[in-house]
Amino acid sequence: MITLDTCRQADAADPLACFREHFHIPEGLIYLDGNSLGAMPVRTPGHLDEVIRRQWGTDLIRSWNTHRWVDLPQRLGDRLAPLIGAGAGEVLVTDSTSVNLFKLLDLALQLRPGRRVILSDTGNFPTDLYMAQGLSRLLGPEYSLRLVEEDDIAAALSPDVAVMMVTQVNYRTGRLHDMARLTRLAREAGALALWDLSHSAGAVPVDLTCCDADLAVGCGYKYLNGGPGAPAFLFVARRHQGQGFPALCGWFGHQSPFEFELQYSPAGDIRRFLCGTPPILSMAGLEAGIELLEETDMSSVRNKSVELTDLFMRLIRQECPDRFRLVTPEIAAERGSQVSLAHPAGYAIVQALISDGVIPDFRAPDILRFGFTPLYTRYIDVWEAVRRLRDIMDSGRWRRPEFNIRHTVT
Ligand SMILES: Cc1ncc(COP(=O)(O)O)c(C=O)c1O
Repeated sequence: MITLDTCRQADAADPLACFREHFHIPEGLIYLDGNSLGAMPVRTPGHLDEVIRRQWGTDLIRSWNTHRWVDLPQRLGDRLAPLIGAGAGEVLVTDSTSVNLFKLLDLALQLRPGRRVILSDTGNFPTDLYMAQGLSRLLGPEYSLRLVEEDDIAAALSPDVAVMMVTQVNYRTGRLHDMARLTRLAREAGALALWDLSHSAGAVPVDLTCCDADLAVGCGYKYLNGGPGAPAFLFVARRHQGQGFPALCGWFGHQSPFEFELQYSPAGDIRRFLCGTPPILSMAGLEAGIELLEETDMSSVRNKSVELTDLFMRLIRQECPDRFRLVTPEIAAERGSQVSLAHPAGYAIVQALISDGVIPDFRAPDILRFGFTPLYTRYIDVWEAVRRLRDIMDSGRWRRPEFNIRHTVT
């Protein structure tokens, strides 16, 4: 039997407990949606204020040189690299995950001439699939996106597959794929592996180098706590750099942008995947988030993440037996930092929880998603969230009409 005291003791023994005060969490709120939008680090407004008032306000355009705005995408990429097991010069912070997917899928198709299939799975995030569809359409009818069930990815690595595109942690179910195994199988089949790390970076230890991954992308606004719409990142293994021709030939990706040449010639390094002027203010927000993560170690983060998700699943079984279908794998090694429950009235239940001061989110058609960011979630938060969920289910309060009004963002 798990009690509130069990959770209090776990908080008292938590080596990461000190990180909570580095985040702005509104009093009384239980925030379980860091897998969608990470909470704001306390240092972020101060850092933005410095960038806005001094760097922009006072130093103005000189800041491109004096504050090195011009190479912020590479500098931030290099700081992010250790969190995902990449080397210096292999990561760039730029654009959105969607745009980066387009760039890297195109690169993969160029690196595997003669192979014209992008392989992915029906559990992948829609933007990944849409970008692949758009790119194939642009390249011509010989190119296609082949979609299979998640469990059939390995078997579908046929000789026409140029690139296997998988999201490491499934956004809906929280299932964690075996990156080392799938990357090896892709390589043995002659294909490249492109990983979407949106739900892993900052939450799950990732070792792109050890897994021999080829390409990767990911969001900056989830577990990296970069702020709404923060720039994304991309990874290109050193062995693939300097090859192919960028799909999006922006001037920041030119080998010498300030020569203003008429002919595009791509930078020889990771910079070729830049397009236009970096959004410095948004990048400054992400810089503060990455800086905070640099003060942690990913194995402690992972340990706590496994404990929080495990606690939540056990409490659901204890407090709300038979109310929900558990969608997330129970084996710790097979899940990321979220737990998903299925219920036909999932949307209304989530709305009722939000009105009770607990914020998860909902993914159609029936998934209640609870994200556990180890740096700011306490064990007692998990206890209290399940207690409020139980009350909502026992009272049937979720049936109220106001909880059934569908908002645009769920
Ligand atoms: C796996 C995954 N990829 C990509 C995205 C979104 O990418 P973008 O930043 O381009 O909107 C999300 C958003 O939640 C996601 O979960």
